[in-house]
Amino acid sequence: MKNSSPFTLLFFTLFLTACGGSKVVLSPNTPDISAAKARFPEYNFEQYEAGKAIYTNHCGSCHALFAPGSKTESTWAKYIPPMVEKVNKRGMIITPEGEALIFRYLLSQGMAH
Ligand code: HEC
Repeated sequence: MKNSSPFTLLFFTLFLTACGGSKVVLSPNTPDISAAKARFPEYNFEQYEAGKAIYTNHCGSCHALFAPGSKTESTWAKYIPPMVEKVNKRGMIITPEGEALIFRYLLSQGMAH
């Protein structure tokens, strides 16, 4: 090809790298909530933070916090309701909305398949 000089190729390589790269690079402080958003389109960072806080504050007092990816979705769905009941029996109220936020937080963090 007559007009594809090394310079042109270099230019396009850099251009493509820059565009491809900007899509995947997330700041370490920006959580990736796309997995939960795919299921619940209205899901947002505020809900993520709220769910994370409820989970970390209330779900690690009797046993260690389980990593989101350590259990499948059906296992989480089975355990969250009775566990919320345990928390509430201790006088710390997790509302039904809070319960849903725990699930969505764990979902955003990647449950096992
Ligand atoms: C009052 C103590 C207590 C609190 C608070 C508590 N748990 Fe548990 N959790 C237990 C006990 C005891 C078990 C063992 C088995 C059972 O009771 O089913 C357990 C088991 C589990 C399991 C199953 C673990 C496995 O072996 O697969 C999960 C998942 C879990 N808890 C999640 C949670 C979540 C989420 C919360 C917060 C909503 C929470 N727990 C809060 C006492 C607690």
